[in-house]
Amino acid sequence: MANIFSDHKKLERNVSLLGVFALIVVTIGGIVEIAPLFWLDSTIEKVKGVRPYTPLELVGRNIYIREGCYNCHSQMIRPFRDEVERYGHYSLAAESMYDHPFQWGSKRTGPDLARVGGRYSDEWHVQHLKDPRSVVPESIMPPYAFLTERELETDEIQKDLIANQRVGVPYSQKDIDSAEADLLAQADPDANAADLLARYPKAQARDFDGNPKKLTEMDALVAYLQMLGTLVDFQSAEAQEQAR
Ligand code: HEC
Repeated sequence: MANIFSDHKKLERNVSLLGVFALIVVTIGGIVEIAPLFWLDSTIEKVKGVRPYTPLELVGRNIYIREGCYNCHSQMIRPFRDEVERYGHYSLAAESMYDHPFQWGSKRTGPDLARVGGRYSDEWHVQHLKDPRSVVPESIMPPYAFLTERELETDEIQKDLIANQRVGVPYSQKDIDSAEADLLAQADPDANAADLLARYPKAQARDFDGNPKKLTEMDALVAYLQMLGTLVDFQSAEAQEQAR
């Protein structure tokens, strides 16, 4: 016994030796934690209803990122009572599995947006984004009125889908080939959206910004906001869980 203690004393008094042994211990711990993840088929439980973004939602999401909305808004409802009562069912990992990069965020100057879809009308969103204080007088959110003027650029959408496909989003070849047509169909109230809906269930197709004559960045951003958190049917998911 005495030997072990004197050896340990040596170890503790020699910084380099201690460093080497500490590294070995941390490495073993790291391998034990991380290695099993490589052999699991999926670390994210699949959840019914979660699908990749439609092209219009995807460009809306790009605008959300470009404008830095994530600096003030998170998209992750934590499983705490106060959050669930305010925002709805806590976020599931699967709900952001097609987000590259994810928008969980760490700052809430404004409310969490993970389930904002369907909570307000399109008109409310447009008015709020144009001039937040006209609907929420005490708001400190900056105005984004220029989005109603800026024409939506659609020529990169195919490349955008391909890039997402490369990092694992299951877009089919058909999705990629018809990306631009899908985008236009979703924002045009007169277009036939049946084909879009067959591949992207629950996609909402209409004119979003109140100006059907022009396809604007506001159309895309509102389309994105209106689908957030709407894909999973928690009524039935919860029922399933309770039935177990
Ligand atoms: C400087 C911080 C800030 C930035 C940047 C910001 N917001 Fe907000 N946002 C707020 C605050 C504060 C509120 C709460 C007051 C209000 O409703 O205006 C809010 C409210 C909202 C709401 C209403 C949420 C609810 O549940 O009532 C939406 C939707 C929203 N923001 C979207 C956006 C989008 C989209 C962007 C980017 C284009 C953005 N915000 C950028 C601070 C910000």
